[in-house]
Amino acid sequence: MNEFRLDGKVALISGSARGLGAATAETLAAGGAKIVIADVLDTVGKETAAKLGADNAMFVHLDVTQEADWEAAIAAAIKRFGSIDVVVNNAGIETAAFLSDCTLEDFKRTMEINVGGVFLGVKHAIRAMKPGGASGRGGSIVNISSGAGLKGIMGLGAYSTSKGAVRLLTKAAAVECGRLNYGIRVNSVHPGMVKTEMGAKTLQDYVDLGLMSDVASAETAFAAAHLLGLGRPQDVANGVYYLASNAAQWVTGIELSVDGGVVAA
Ligand SMILES: NC(=O)c1ccc[n+]([C@@H]2O[C@H](COP(=O)([O-])OP(=O)(O)OC[C@H]3O[C@@H](n4cnc5c(N)ncnc54)[C@H](O)[C@@H]3O)[C@@H](O)[C@H]2O)c1
Repeated sequence: MNEFRLDGKVALISGSARGLGAATAETLAAGGAKIVIADVLDTVGKETAAKLGADNAMFVHLDVTQEADWEAAIAAAIKRFGSIDVVVNNAGIETAAFLSDCTLEDFKRTMEINVGGVFLGVKHAIRAMKPGGASGRGGSIVNISSGAGLKGIMGLGAYSTSKGAVRLLTKAAAVECGRLNYGIRVNSVHPGMVKTEMGAKTLQDYVDLGLMSDVASAETAFAAAHLLGLGRPQDVANGVYYLASNAAQWVTGIELSVDGGVVAA
């Protein structure tokens, strides 16, 4: 069973000050990994890292759209903990609008963070993990897409577009890393709705778009669309944990739905 442990691994999780990223950080730490909390939210990020203990976790400021931030964050992880073995590209934003109303500015901002940010994370993870890289011992990259990256979602056109791109960026990276024998696995996770700050925003957005009368009705409707109701941050973190671990050593290029069955329904 020790293929399910993460001892000796160093994991950087983007957007892990709060929400699904913070739950993932806590879960990977419980499995024995050293954790790099990376986010634009410096105060909250430092608090999240402090909860995991100074020996187990550090905070780095990372805006995923800034290439220099990625270089510095990965260098800091290797300097502090000796390697980089897991990169979870979790940071993202949700923007809601009907496509006929969505501004080009909002569309581009969504793509810049959700796709550009994951691209830079994948690029610099591969550079560090591949043979001859600064860490150089392979690893696992997990990209957080969404159920909205597998099917079109009302009112979330820009977001769905970005998450669909993350799905195929993941497969392209898996193919390159596999064919070039880098020892790096790349997979995507597709969560259903979890009531983080983003999940709560989506419920409010459905009211603002006139699709639901109030937030409580929106939550009831979203829960009903999921065969198993809404999820917990821990449910998503558990899926990431599996892909990060050696238990998934023969798993690359997959899309793992952790979604209470919402895409199947
Ligand atoms: N909550 C859900 O229902 C749900 C469902 C499917 C997919 N997801 C995806 O899961 C991921 C995490 O979502 P969440 O629910 O925890 O959201 P959240 O808004 O609670 O947390 C997102 C985190 O990302 C950080 N972030 C945003 N922009 C950043 C940037 N440019 N650089 C670095 N960090 C940045 C934020 O500061 C925040 O800490 C996102 O990619 C989201 O699209 C969430």
